[in-house]
Amino acid sequence: MEANAFDLLKDYATAGRQYDIIVLDPPAFARSRKTLPAAMRGYKEMNLRAMKMLRPGGILVTCSCSFVVGEDDFAAMLTEAAQDVHRSVKLLEKRAQAKDHPILLGVPETHYLKCFICELT
Ligand SMILES: C[S@@+](CC[C@H](N)C(=O)[O-])C[C@H]1O[C@@H](n2cnc3c(N)ncnc32)[C@H](O)[C@@H]1O
Repeated sequence: MEANAFDLLKDYATAGRQYDIIVLDPPAFARSRKTLPAAMRGYKEMNLRAMKMLRPGGILVTCSCSFVVGEDDFAAMLTEAAQDVHRSVKLLEKRAQAKDHPILLGVPETHYLKCFICELT
């Protein structure tokens, strides 16, 4: 299926669809610090809609490949989204990019891929 993920998530959430697992792997929404606030709104909207559609115990695999979005920013966005939809999120695992894209200590931008695997309770 090919669709705009924002529209699809909205339509499916409105239709009351429910899932056991949802994977969100969007393109980089922020390419500079200037676009960070708008990007965080996009990440939040997408994650919030997915959280709404997960059954209790459902799994959310959610990613950001924006190098300006730090792990803490990403976690804070997910926390806010969960609060807005009155869901609790248990972080099961944090992942990053594969080893052929090394993370250089002192160069936070090189940790560009954040991937959280969460259980929605
Ligand atoms: C990080 S890649 C995902 C890669 C995928 N997980 C894989 O393993 O092949 C992001 C993808 O989202 C697509 N995309 C960008 N904007 C989109 C939108 N509004 N709705 C749906 N897909 C979109 C891009 O074309 C790109 O293929």
